Amino acid sequence: MSRILITSALPYINGIKHLGNLVGSQLPADLFARFCRARGHEVMFICATDEHGTPAELAAAKTGEDVAAYCERMHRVQAELAHGFRLSFDHYGRSSSERNKRLTQHFAEKLAENGFIEEVTERQVYSRADGRFLPDRYIEGTCPNCGYDRARGDQCENCTKQLDPTDLIDPRSAISGSTELEVRETRHLYLRQSLLKDEIDAWIDSQQDWPVLTTSIAKKWLHDGDGLQDRGITRDLSWGVPVKKGDAPWPGMEGKVFYVWFDAPIEYIGATAEWADAHGLDEAAWRRWWRTDEGAADVRYVQFMGKDNVPFHTLSFPATLMGSREPWKLVDYIKSFNYLNYDGGQFSTSQGRGVFMDQALEILPADYWRWWLLSHAPENSDSEFTWENFQASVNKDLADVLGNFVSRVTKFGRARFGEAVPEGGDFGPAEEALLAALTPRLRAYEAHMEAMEIRKAAYELRAIWAEGNEYLQAAAPWAVFKTDPAGAAAIIRLSLNLIRLYAVLSQPFIPDASAAMMESLNCDDWRWPGALPDALSTLPAGHAFVVPEVLFRKITDDEREAWQARFAGLRS
Ligand code: 2FM
Ligand code: ZN
Repeated sequence: MSRILITSALPYINGIKHLGNLVGSQLPADLFARFCRARGHEVMFICATDEHGTPAELAAAKTGEDVAAYCERMHRVQAELAHGFRLSFDHYGRSSSERNKRLTQHFAEKLAENGFIEEVTERQVYSRADGRFLPDRYIEGTCPNCGYDRARGDQCENCTKQLDPTDLIDPRSAISGSTELEVRETRHLYLRQSLLKDEIDAWIDSQQDWPVLTTSIAKKWLHDGDGLQDRGITRDLSWGVPVKKGDAPWPGMEGKVFYVWFDAPIEYIGATAEWADAHGLDEAAWRRWWRTDEGAADVRYVQFMGKDNVPFHTLSFPATLMGSREPWKLVDYIKSFNYLNYDGGQFSTSQGRGVFMDQALEILPADYWRWWLLSHAPENSDSEFTWENFQASVNKDLADVLGNFVSRVTKFGRARFGEAVPEGGDFGPAEEALLAALTPRLRAYEAHMEAMEIRKAAYELRAIWAEGNEYLQAAAPWAVFKTDPAGAAAIIRLSLNLIRLYAVLSQPFIPDASAAMMESLNCDDWRWPGALPDALSTLPAGHAFVVPEVLFRKITDDEREAWQARFAGLRS
């Protein structure tokens, strides 16, 4: 048994996330967390809302709410949706927590003590129309790197380049649209990442098994252009973690807050401390996940995120941790994702394009979405959601293959033998062939799940379900029953055990259906299969079961067309 720390990139607080966001971090992280727990590992699975910075301020200004009240409300909304999608976080924290505030201030103080903070007089964009500085997302314009015309002052969504507001071509205020902008001087703290360049470079080089997507993005920002740049970590905003040294003021920084990208990743640690607080545990309980001198040396730490988050997690956050010169746990593996597109274009929060988490759950239960999203995860390239593909995949994989198997086995078993696992009969060549086919597939499934190769794992799981159907078709208990009822009993006994096996194996992908299968089998034995003959004899003859409700219903053409039309426009 190992200890595995899993974090998902923190969703911004500004509104409900779309399915592209979900599949880029929280959902695959949940898949992995569930798998690790199922294998008997001790897991700490952490997420939180990312509440500071310009996204929160802009969203609150739009609804007219006070920003703290807005964040509180939206945190509850997002937590409920996370629950709706069965995201099994051990804690879903808030980056605006007291814990995160303290930790953020602590890291800044340590970085300053170690010479990694510099005070810089910066030239920042100031809007006379708005009467304020326009940091980060308060300013929009054309990306100097790729020409995208809606790039934001902190990062270009299109090419992922990290930007400074003054880099933008034809800049305009995101508040008023004003282009009457001027550059004014203001003093800020800079994280001297450049001093840590060699250390970070060597650390990335030592990660031999990282996915190409992760390493290539990290190396690009480390070596392209001017290399790893020092970056401002404070802002002229009122909402955020105040710039202080512990309880003492930070001279010259009064009224300023830390940049959202400085405090957000620290909240991975903060949320783990919040978890301990919520459970009435002591400091040691969370520190054993994060401090290598207090137990975390044995922890394997895996992060999940979209590709636009990779620079912050491979460069800036490690720079914060390393520069503290304290023994904090660094990430061991970063699983990053490309983008999921929506029906011929991009999902977009700002434009309201695509299907959002709340809307998805209004239409269908979580498992339908989980299955499609995970089995089409944008791992090696961008992938695309289309309603046709969604319908085909749900109807075929979930309804025809898995659902149909469960329904046929339980219904035939009840009709011929009553609602208990039937006894008698022997296993023969058909069963041997099934075991011979299933064993390598099961071990391949485990290997892909361990490696977080999500599409490959989904493919293998679907094949494992299909083996059951093929077996049932070939063994044909309905025909065998006429001449050899005991033989038919053996087939049904094995098939009922297969349903249990499917429930256990499928649980990371489709937890509700798995729970329904187990409930119908009147079984609570979630042990991961070792040798298949053992796993397939768990339910003994005489064990009671019931026929479950339909596990997965089919999506009709009319429904598909109606949803296609409903989601063709933009969400207001
Ligand atoms: O890109 C985003 O959605 C950010 N809110 C991710 C933050 S991840 C972490 F560092 F907190
Ligand atoms: Zn760009």
